[in-house]
Amino acid sequence: METETAPSPSPEQIDLSAPSVIADPYPAYRALRGRSPVLYARVPAGGAAGLGEPIRAYALLRHAEVLAALRDPQTFSSNVTDKIRVLPRITLLHDDPPRHTHLRRLVSRSFTPRRIAELEPWIGRLAASLLEATGDGPSDLMGAYAMPLPMMVIATLLGIPAERYVQFRSWSESVMSYSGIPAEERASRGKAMVDFFAAELEARRRAPSGDLISALVEAEIDGARLDTPEAVGFCVGLLVAGNDTTTNLIGNMAHLLSERPELYRRAQQDRSLVGPIIEETLRHSSPVQRLLRVTTRPVDVSGVMIPAGHLVDVVFGAANRDPAVFEEPDAFRLDRPPAEHLAFGQGTHFCIGAALARMEARIALNALLDCYESITPGEAPPLRQTRAIMPLGFESLPLVLRRSRATA
Ligand code: HEM
Repeated sequence: METETAPSPSPEQIDLSAPSVIADPYPAYRALRGRSPVLYARVPAGGAAGLGEPIRAYALLRHAEVLAALRDPQTFSSNVTDKIRVLPRITLLHDDPPRHTHLRRLVSRSFTPRRIAELEPWIGRLAASLLEATGDGPSDLMGAYAMPLPMMVIATLLGIPAERYVQFRSWSESVMSYSGIPAEERASRGKAMVDFFAAELEARRRAPSGDLISALVEAEIDGARLDTPEAVGFCVGLLVAGNDTTTNLIGNMAHLLSERPELYRRAQQDRSLVGPIIEETLRHSSPVQRLLRVTTRPVDVSGVMIPAGHLVDVVFGAANRDPAVFEEPDAFRLDRPPAEHLAFGQGTHFCIGAALARMEARIALNALLDCYESITPGEAPPLRQTRAIMPLGFESLPLVLRRSRATA
């Protein structure tokens, strides 16, 4: 196979950071995927201290190359913090093996399936009460439901009063995604968040209370514990990774269903469709579109050489619409043969919160189906996120909600 040293065309011609592309990246993926297995492109970047300027990276848009990169953490390192300014460093997400392996074992001890399952009845009540407050008629589903639900869940898991979720959200936005926030403001929110978690960890050291932060303080393997920056970095990671992502999964799912009233009705009658609707939403409208890696050595990716020390944009969202793996990739279909979507990543860094996210989405959708006979598009068009760096989702999603007679 012929090896190119620099893929063409130039990054100026391929801009994955334009607001219109962030809002709806799929036409760009379709147009670009066939050109080359690797594209040198302008991609969105940021972080609490970052300026939010687009950066240049080698973008992987095909399923095969995305999967290969995820399965080779030695070559495609997650330790990108020297290359892009992120504050704070996120424990696990920015770590490589063997340190990552050790840390993941430590936190897995605290973040157990049992701890998550214990939350299920409470999340069900929370979802029902949010919908009860939402009522009947026109409503913005993001503000009323998709945003508060995951935020309150993560706050509760961490042992922080759920009422503080508005503040959590502003911290989370400053780290995760929103390049529209001025750099100074991002930095000050980032610092407030780090200080907050450091103080919470200190308080739990003095008086453990059985929540996740206490478990992190107590977690120990072979005499080793998480140090404070690592524990803070993990709390921040849970806050940002467990929040916007699940919000966008719920929002994207509600949007897709609002445009498919027939499917909504079928799901109401047949709740076995809830699981497949969640999985197809994750594939079709992946809440996490991309994450960055940095190459540790020169690497040949399907005939294209990527030099050492360069950023690689691993685009899960594009891989999940690759026609080489998914027939009619742009269609929302529940009858797909089993194939691996990469919405939660793969391999070493596979999402530690996938089970929680799936549970929340299941509860959220069942509560909607229980409560509303129909959810249909509102008068105003939905507002897509255009400044987000990694996620795909809506800022507002106006819907008309019609209560079921049983719950009216
Ligand atoms: C629909 C919701 C979610 C999506 C789409 C999602 C997606 C992802 C993806 C793609 C990765 C892989 C990162 C990589 O390869 O670098 C990841 C990792 C991670 N996720 Fe999630 N996530 C979701 C929900 C959650 C929740 C609810 C939590 C926690 C409460 C969480 C915590 C994490 C953490 C800590 C990591 C880092 C794991 C590691 O590096 O070992 N996520 N997630």
